[in-house]
Amino acid sequence: MLKAIRGTKDILPAEAGMWQKIEAYGRQIFSIYAYKEIRTPVIEEAALFIRSIGDATDIVQKEMYVFSDRGGRNIALRPEATASIVRAYLENTLGQNQAVTKLFYIGPMFRSERPQKGRQRQFHQLGVEAIGSDNPLLDVEVISLAVKFLEGLGAKEFNLKINSLGCKKDKLKIIEKYRAGIKPLLGSLCDECKERYNKNVLRVFDCKNPKCGEAVRDIRLKDPLCPECSAHFESVKKGLEGLGIKYETDSKIVRGLDYYTKTVFEITQKDLGAKDAVCAGGRYNDLIKDMGGQDTPAVGFAFGTERLIMAVKEDVSQSSPAMDVFIAVAGEGLDEKAFALMDTLRGKGILCDMDYEKKSLKAQMRKAQRLNARFAIIFGEEEFKGNKVALRDMEKGSQKEIEITDIVKEIKAR
Ligand code: HAM
Repeated sequence: MLKAIRGTKDILPAEAGMWQKIEAYGRQIFSIYAYKEIRTPVIEEAALFIRSIGDATDIVQKEMYVFSDRGGRNIALRPEATASIVRAYLENTLGQNQAVTKLFYIGPMFRSERPQKGRQRQFHQLGVEAIGSDNPLLDVEVISLAVKFLEGLGAKEFNLKINSLGCKKDKLKIIEKYRAGIKPLLGSLCDECKERYNKNVLRVFDCKNPKCGEAVRDIRLKDPLCPECSAHFESVKKGLEGLGIKYETDSKIVRGLDYYTKTVFEITQKDLGAKDAVCAGGRYNDLIKDMGGQDTPAVGFAFGTERLIMAVKEDVSQSSPAMDVFIAVAGEGLDEKAFALMDTLRGKGILCDMDYEKKSLKAQMRKAQRLNARFAIIFGEEEFKGNKVALRDMEKGSQKEIEITDIVKEIKAR
């Protein structure tokens, strides 16, 4: 039998209600903060991600799905959406008539990682990008939006960590300082980290090998930021405090993608473990210029939807709507009449269904119960001759005969 590809999952009807709820709430809260939806293609030129996320990152080196299409083009399944959105922003001149362009997105991403709890090869993100300003208030807006989104979904015991990587110059200095700090520890790092040390030392902090994490744990940098970046970071912290948002600063938050500058942040949640963030993001002030645009600062985040569902931990079975009416047929030749009534009810927005298998009335009523139907309408031969049906209240167990023409009114009234 054919099976779903390793690291991918079917979202079954029992879970789909929860997905809808999270996505609907995302759309609502992102809109309240004046972000507009954008949908970009799932396939892009691989070069887009290589240039933006960085050649030495795990995503590009090990995780990106890349293939040649029939025209010999080098295509990637998107591993994230920020690069795609920057591409779309530039290609469609979205910033033309507004100083700040605020966008949100919801959709699947692809990374060939080793599948485990909370880590899939096709996963989903909900994210925002605010493009066009370096104002620290925008960092505060984006971070507080992430926190409010989590709170609104009822998530508890989450932890926001922030850091600043500074401007391009600061980042280069930080990289040099880390190189100096890590050099004497090279012997205790894995072979890959030795290579990372040469190519892009920040990526040592992304290593999933606990021995490497342990080795670099105590490295601290002194005053890594220039006065301007330091003031920016202080404003972000002050802004968060002003909104009553709790955070920790952590200089080890360096993020696994190369485009970040200045503020970066991650949100972890107790049930997911400290390594796996439910949400992550930050500033990428140089990316748009590096991709051929004007000097345009930007900031954003992405939630992993699968991890969000684990963090919210609601009873998913509660999320799918129950049945308003189940229509049972107890007589020859009444199927079509019942079907026609069902069509009328559905036209009035009443959620209903029937059995298509010509089962016994008893079996049909059992199904009505199983589906958690509020009412059952029973078509019997005798009643139908008088243009009536039986309306059964499944909660109370009471039943009465009723004119077919009154049925919608009666159900709506109850
Ligand atoms: P990221 O940290 O690579 O950042 O991913 C963001 C979130 O996506 C993670 O915190 C996690 O919840 C989820 N995620 C990532 N990989 C997987 C996976 N294999 N399985 C399940 N969930 C996963 C970005 O993607 C940036 N584009 C975020 C951003 C937006 N920065 C600025 N704007």
